[in-house]
Amino acid sequence: MSDAYRVAVVTGATSGIGKAIVPVLRERGLAVYAVGRNEAQLAELCAATGALPVQADVRDTARIAAALKGVEVDVLVNNAGILSTRAAFQDIDPAEIDAMIDVNLKAPMHLTRLVLPGMVARRRGHLLYIGSSGGQAAFPNMGAYGPSKAGLSLFCDNLRCDLLGTSVRVSEIVPGRVQTALYRTSIADNQAQAVLYDGYRPIQPENIARIVSDVIALPAHVDVARVEVFPTDQATGGGSMVKFQSA
Ligand SMILES: NC(=O)c1ccc[n+]([C@@H]2O[C@H](COP(=O)([O-])OP(=O)(O)OC[C@H]3O[C@@H](n4cnc5c(N)ncnc54)[C@H](OP(=O)(O)O)[C@@H]3O)[C@@H](O)[C@H]2O)c1
Repeated sequence: MSDAYRVAVVTGATSGIGKAIVPVLRERGLAVYAVGRNEAQLAELCAATGALPVQADVRDTARIAAALKGVEVDVLVNNAGILSTRAAFQDIDPAEIDAMIDVNLKAPMHLTRLVLPGMVARRRGHLLYIGSSGGQAAFPNMGAYGPSKAGLSLFCDNLRCDLLGTSVRVSEIVPGRVQTALYRTSIADNQAQAVLYDGYRPIQPENIARIVSDVIALPAHVDVARVEVFPTDQATGGGSMVKFQSA
C-alpha cells in the first residue's frame, strides 16, 4: 500500500460488499469511517471492527461533510448502490429512475467532489468505485440501473484525465453476480436467494473486498483503472431475437 494512506471512507458499509471491505481495510491499519443508514447495523460493525460510524444517507453530502470535517481522507470507497426494481423501462416506476441515478451515480460524484480537493492538495489519495457488469453491457430490466453504472464507469475515466499529474488514483471494480442483499426489493417475495444464488456459485463479498485491498496495496505509482470480476460460471454477451408478432 501507499504507506502514506491512513484514513478510509466506505459507503454502504452495513451490508454485502461494503460490510466486507471495512474489516479488510481495518486489518491494513487504516482508520475507517463507515457510512450507512442503519444505526444498529453500523454500531454492530463498528464494535466488531473498530470502524467509526457515520450515520447518513449517501445522498446527504452535507451530513457526511459535517461528519468528516477536518478528516484527511486518503481512500474513498464508493460502494453504496441500489437495484431497487427490475422492470422493462416502459413499466418502471418513474421514481425509481431518480432513485437509482441519485444513489448510484450522483452520490458518488458529490462525495468525490467533497474529498478530492484535499487529496489533490496532499498529492495522495485513492478513489474506488463499485461499478457493475450491468454498466458495461445491456441487460433486460436494467434500464435505469445500467445507465447509472455506465455513467459511473465513464466518470472514473474522466477523473483519471482530470487527475493526471496529481498522484491521486482512480479504480473501478466491476463485479458480475455477488451474493448480497442487492436484489431484496427487485425480486418479488424475497425469492432472490432461490432465483439468483441457490445452485449457483456467485462471488462472495469477501472476494471483492480482497480485490479492493489488493488494488490499494499496489505502489502509489500503479493505478488499477478497472477490474472486471465475474463468477467463473457467468458470461455476458450474445444476441437475442424474437419472432415477429403482428398487433
Ligand atoms: N450484488 C451484486 O451482484 C452486485 C453486482 C455488481 C455490482 N454491485 C454493486 O455493489 C455495491 C454494493 O451492493 P451489494 O451487492 O453489497 O448490496 P447490498 O447488500 O444491498 O448493500 C448495499 C449497501 O448500500 C447501502 N445503501 C443503499 N442506498 C443507500 C443510501 N441511500 N444511503 C446510504 N447507504 C445506502 C445499503 O444500506 P441500507 O441497508 O441502509 O439500504 C447497503 O449497506 C452496489 O453499488 C451494487 O450496485 C453488486
